[in-house]
Amino acid sequence: MKTRYDLLSPEVKANPYPTYAEMRHHSPVCQVDPGGMWAVSRYADVMRVLKDPGLFSSRGFGVATNPPWLGGNPFSESMLAMDPPEHGRLRTLITRAFGRAAMERLEPRVRAFAARAVAELPLGAPVDVMAPYALRIPAFVIGDMLGVDPALHVRLKRWADLITGGVTTVRPEEEERKQLARDAVAELKGAFGELLEKRRQAPGEDLLSELLRARVEGEALTPSELMAFCALLLVGGIETAVNMLAVSLVVLLEQPALWTRLREDRSAIPAFIEEVLRYEPPVQAAPRLTTAEVELGGVRLPAGTPLLVLLGSACHDEAQFPQADRFDMDRPGPQNLPFGHGIHFCLGAQLARMEGRLALEALLDRCARLERGPEPVRWHRTLVVRGPASLPVVLHPAGGP
Ligand code: HEM
Repeated sequence: MKTRYDLLSPEVKANPYPTYAEMRHHSPVCQVDPGGMWAVSRYADVMRVLKDPGLFSSRGFGVATNPPWLGGNPFSESMLAMDPPEHGRLRTLITRAFGRAAMERLEPRVRAFAARAVAELPLGAPVDVMAPYALRIPAFVIGDMLGVDPALHVRLKRWADLITGGVTTVRPEEEERKQLARDAVAELKGAFGELLEKRRQAPGEDLLSELLRARVEGEALTPSELMAFCALLLVGGIETAVNMLAVSLVVLLEQPALWTRLREDRSAIPAFIEEVLRYEPPVQAAPRLTTAEVELGGVRLPAGTPLLVLLGSACHDEAQFPQADRFDMDRPGPQNLPFGHGIHFCLGAQLARMEGRLALEALLDRCARLERGPEPVRWHRTLVVRGPASLPVVLHPAGGP
């Protein structure tokens, strides 16, 4: 048993679940590296924290993603990093954009785009599907919702990475990486500033135009509130869904019988996606900050303690999920915890599920089989998200050998 766990060590990056199990068993609330936040690993403690935004503030996000050297980060000012009542005021505004009617309107566009992305994948030869599949589909969806020029879609993920993991994983001596993050904030602000101005002058039916029209207690959103929304949707919508799409394929590579099952029965896809999200949660952790002294998991924490709420660990807690380390798509669902809990419950949960389903359907339509590529899967992780960095596979055409 270790005295202090490093969540970014190579072995935890490759597979965090044995470490999480050890933490749940021996030190369910403990300080971790890098940064010294207090990790909360048991399901029951995780739920307690997420249910009580008064005692466990989301300002922890701002602290983690806006260090003094960065000079400001719109993501850190988003509603994800807010507490009631400010949080509720902004959340009400954007909820409609993710409602059932909006999803029904979006579905045919996502289906067509997923089919196009899959049609352009080479068959019968090794291909790293991260960029042309796992990243391309979510970047299109969020780009389309925000009304971003498709030429910019490839840059969206880079910005999303740099203003989150690109900030939280920088060590003090890494000046070059700090500059990259500062440049990304400036580029993102420039691009969305221009886009907002265009929509102000010629409003359309996209989400930005809707946000510009929106009024909270009679007042329009301020420029920095609008920018924070753009950054939040970018990070919330891309970083996470990319990993969900990629991990779906990792599971199918590990268990080829599931590929056959899903090809024969498309109605099983939603249950498969739910279990993928529980088995490999794309969002592994959510930061919080204690607002008063509190006892948690047998540890007394003073006010102002930064916490890292380990959703990845809670989703593998045997006390909640029998045989938690086993992939079992017939588990009772839905699995909501991968999307958080309480007032910050993911606004994009239905959208993400739809993307997961349609992307996989497109692949199952075109391919008879999926095979490992010549290189192993490499994993990346930051304190918050985890997923494959590269995913080499060989796709075999339907109707082929
Ligand atoms: C598999 C994909 C996704 C996962 C696993 C995921 C996970 C999460 C989690 C865990 C939270 C809560 C964080 C906390 O409590 O601190 C959250 C919040 C949020 N997510 Fe997602 N998300 C996904 C996809 C999306 C998509 C596609 C969008 C939008 C396009 C989105 C938008 C948001 C927003 C706006 C919030 C903030 C809600 C609030 O603060 O009230 N997410 N997400």
